[in-house]
Parts: sequence; structure tokens; C-alpha cells
Amino acid sequence: MASVLIRGMATSAVESAIKHVTIIGGGLMGSGIAQVAATAGYDVTIVEVNNQLVEQAQNSIKNSLGRVAKKQFKDDTNEQTKFVSNVLNRINGSSDLQGVVKGTDLVIEAIVENINIKHKLFESIDKVAPNHTIFTSNTSSLSITDIASVTDRKDRFGGLHFFNPVPVMRLLEIIRTNDTSDQTFNAIRNFGEKIGKSCITCKDTPGFVVNRLLVPYMAESVRLLERGDASGRDIDTAMKLGAGYPMGPIELADYVGLDTTNNILKGWHEKDPENPLYKPIPMLENLVKEGKFGVKSGEGFYKYNKK
Ligand code: CAA
Ligand code: NAD
Repeated sequence: MASVLIRGMATSAVESAIKHVTIIGGGLMGSGIAQVAATAGYDVTIVEVNNQLVEQAQNSIKNSLGRVAKKQFKDDTNEQTKFVSNVLNRINGSSDLQGVVKGTDLVIEAIVENINIKHKLFESIDKVAPNHTIFTSNTSSLSITDIASVTDRKDRFGGLHFFNPVPVMRLLEIIRTNDTSDQTFNAIRNFGEKIGKSCITCKDTPGFVVNRLLVPYMAESVRLLERGDASGRDIDTAMKLGAGYPMGPIELADYVGLDTTNNILKGWHEKDPENPLYKPIPMLENLVKEGKFGVKSGEGFYKYNKK
């Protein structure tokens, strides 16, 4: 009985403890996550590898907040400006990772989709972050258990998988491993709800729910294009008009990032080489080798105006 009570008390203590959130990586996903967390009232720090990238992340958040403000406050430009600056005031930027995590309650990692790089990162902050700090990863495809394995806080480790564009997509996948404690799970789910997302619970399986279905579909569409069975435009039109998707799979791959899409397939192929769904796709690999990452680099399967 006493232990149940203590568990309950610990849960609320952890939940109410999340005040400051550190987002590591201020790219496509990290900047969106920072935006929604700050909009919900959390103090946020974005950590990037250098100050120029910090500034880039802050500019991208400002643009995105402008779009949200226009929708929310219609023609009231004063209110729009006030909203944008209030949210921006809650977002700091830094390239001093160790310094930032010393004072944080929740870490959300959104760096490159590579297990070795993620391991190096979490290993470097595990000793520095306070004991109560919860670590999470926004990985698209890697095992949370595997990422957490290099830390001594496996009970305070989970997955928070957001969708691109974060300010618009309503879903959040909450991943719990066999080691994630109830307190940690409740705290990150509570955080997800507070930032306005619809949360689902996922086991720590490859791709969780959405990407287990979406990534093979995108990969299959690139194979269709590679074989010359249809043009990219026709594949996209087919899935938009024939299946009601907001974007076709080729443009979606560009939107997600071809580097990220390729890294997801590569990671799964290494673990399960016989599975035809994960086989490497030369056309995709070549685009990545040429630095054509999709929308974020200005060219992928299609060309884009660089912002
Ligand atoms: N920030 C703020 N608002 C944004 C935004 C952003 N970055 N991007 C779009 N919006 C808003 C716009 O302001 C607009 O709002 P109103 O309609 O109220 O004016 C609305 O979203 C629609 O935007 P657009 O009119 O510019 O364009 P659209 O109608 O084509 O919608 C889209 C854009 C929301 C991206 C839509 O095309 C879409 O839903 N595409 C599919 C996205 C998807 O599947 N994402 C998941 C990718 S997989 C993933 O994320 C997981 C992974 O691990 C890889
Ligand atoms: P991105 O390339 O846009 O951004 C990654 C950022 O991380 C870059 O700005 C890079 O400078 C920074 N970075 C790299 N190493 C760092 C380090 N050690 N410290 C601080 N910053 C570092 O990538 P993204 O699309 O934002 O993806 C990030 C993560 O989110 C990946 O794990 C990806 O699989 C996952 N994800 C991506 C999407 C998507 O649609 N793109 C959706 C959901 C999840």
C-alpha cells in the first residue's frame, strides 16, 4: 500500500517538474518541436552545432509562427506580432550542449538518423544532466531501447515521435520500452497532451506505427519511378487523386528529406537484410550522394526555390 502511494506521489512530482525543455537539433523537426513546446508555455532551448544553425532554426520558427498567427488572429496585426514575440521570448538557442542540459527537465533529441551519432550524443549528456531529467528521441526508425542502452537512465528514457510539419500534424507517437518507468511514461504523455497533440502509445518496434506503413509505401513509389513504370508527377497525382492523400509519395519523400528516408531504409536493411521492403534503392542513394536531400536542400526528385 505504502509503495503505491509513493509511486503516485513520484508521478505527480515528475509531471509537474517539466518546465524547461531542451531540443537537440534545430532542423526540420527540432525547430517545429521547439515551436509547439514554447507555444504551450514551456521554456525551450534549442541546441545546434554552431550559432549560425541556431539562428537558422530561430528564423524558421519565426516564419512558421507568422503563418500560425495569421490564421489565429486574421487581420489583427498587433495581436499577430504580440503572439509571435511572446512565443519567441520563450525560445533560447545555444551551441553549448553540456551547459544547457545541466538545467533541463526534458531532452528531446532530433539530430541525424544514425545510431552511432545518437549514441555519442546521449553518452555525452547522461553524466551531466540532473538525475530527474527525462531523455527522449524523435527517431523515425531506430530502436529507443538501443539508443537508451548507452545511458544509466533507461527507466527515464522514451520516444516522442512527431510528424512533419510539427505545427500542423496532430499526431504524437509515445514510445515506451520495457525499461521506461510508469512515471516517465506518464510525464511524457502529459507533456504531449499539454502541447496539444493526439497521443498514441507504441511499442518499441521498427517504425512504430506510422513509419512501419509509410516508409515502405514511399520506398515502393521510388522503385516504381526507378523502373520507369510511371513519372514522378503521375505517381504523385495518382495517390492524391486516386487515394486522397494530401501529398504524393515522391513529393512526400522530398518533404521528409531524402537523406532521412535513405537512412531509415539503410538502418532497417542492416538489421533485416532479407526483407525486400528495406532493400537499398540506387536512385535514392545517388540523389543523396549528390547532396539532393529534397525541399531542405533545394532539390530532390523535384526542384524548389531555396528560402
Ligand atoms: N508551420 C505552420 N503552419 C504551416 C506549416 C508550417 N511549417 N506548413 C503548413 N502550414 C499550414 C498553412 O499555414 C496552412 O494553414 P491554413 O490552411 O489554415 O491556411 C495549412 O498548414 C496548409 O498549408 P498549405 O496551404 O501551405 O499547403 P497544403 O494544404 O498543401 O498542406 C501540408 C501542407 C500540411 C504539409 C499537407 O500537404 C500534408 O498534410 N502533407 C502530408 C504531410 C505528411 O504526411 N507528414 C508526415 C511525414 S512522415 C513523418 O513526419 C514521420 C517520419 O518520421 C519521417
Ligand atoms: P534535419 O537534417 O533537418 O536536422 C537535423 C539537425 O540536427 C541539423 O540542423 C544538424 O545541424 C543538427 N545536429 C546534428 N548533430 C547534432 C548534434 N550533435 N548536436 C546538435 N545538433 C545536431 O533532420 P530532421 O528531419 O529534423 O530529423 C531529425 C530527426 O527526426 C531524425 O532522427 C529523423 O529521423 C527524425 N524525424 C524526421 C522526420 C521528417 O519528416 N524529416 C519526421 C519525424 C522524425
